[in-house]
Amino acid sequence: MSANKPAAGSAATSASRQKAIWVRETRFGRWFLSTHTWYRYVLSQAIIDFKGLLAGRLPAQPRILDAGCGQGMAFGLLEQHFQPATITGIDIDGEQIRKATAAAAELATPSTAIHGSASEAIFPAESFDLILCHQLLHHSSQQQETLAEFYRLLPPGGVLLVGESCRSFIQSIPVRLLFRHPAMVQKDAQGYIDLLRDAGFVFTESDIQTSRPWWSRRCLGMAQKLGIGRDITEPTEILIVAKKPE
Ligand SMILES: C[S@@+](CC[C@H](N)C(=O)[O-])C[C@H]1O[C@@H](n2cnc3c(N)ncnc32)[C@H](O)[C@@H]1O
Repeated sequence: MSANKPAAGSAATSASRQKAIWVRETRFGRWFLSTHTWYRYVLSQAIIDFKGLLAGRLPAQPRILDAGCGQGMAFGLLEQHFQPATITGIDIDGEQIRKATAAAAELATPSTAIHGSASEAIFPAESFDLILCHQLLHHSSQQQETLAEFYRLLPPGGVLLVGESCRSFIQSIPVRLLFRHPAMVQKDAQGYIDLLRDAGFVFTESDIQTSRPWWSRRCLGMAQKLGIGRDITEPTEILIVAKKPE
């Protein structure tokens, strides 16, 4: 079934423009995103934590955009936890979108997956009530443009869920060896907070959750457990429930 279709006349990101704004993840990174570890300890946990932070403020039957949806692993979780009217995924990686299209076909909710950049005006204004942006911004050299686009896509009061890995984790040696990201765009927790506020989104301290999950710690937290070596002390992950002002 189909959900929000792109605006008539809009085109997916052209190949040359895509090359300029996108650094493709490594083969290992793309595989890791399909693992049970990612699904359970990163993605599912984030959706559960977002639901807790939303605390009853979830729009009824939201039209959801999953921005940077990858292979659509969040679709089933969004359907289960948020009872959406529609789910639309968008991703710049055509290989991921092929898998996301298959994931969308499995859902009872009208759903679709679209190949394009989250920073580009592909959908009409106010097309979505809730946007999930999970682990996309640290892959993007177009963070401000992407947030401006989210602002345009939400109606007043619309909800933006941002889940991000902070600079301390992305720039750690294991992550630098195994994954690929655009240089110098990752932020610390405060940097992501400022980025969202500068884009016009509103939220309070109680809408923010920072953490240092085991998978983001040096040696997966073992070094700290054994008392050998220092661990990262600042937050490695941040979740923010933001709103477009009413
Ligand atoms: C770490 S993955 C997260 C995937 C998914 N959100 C999840 O949590 O499982 C980041 C995704 O963002 C996508 N991406 C990077 N830049 C993008 C852009 N400008 N527009 C849309 N997707 C983008 C990548 O192709 C990749 O699938």
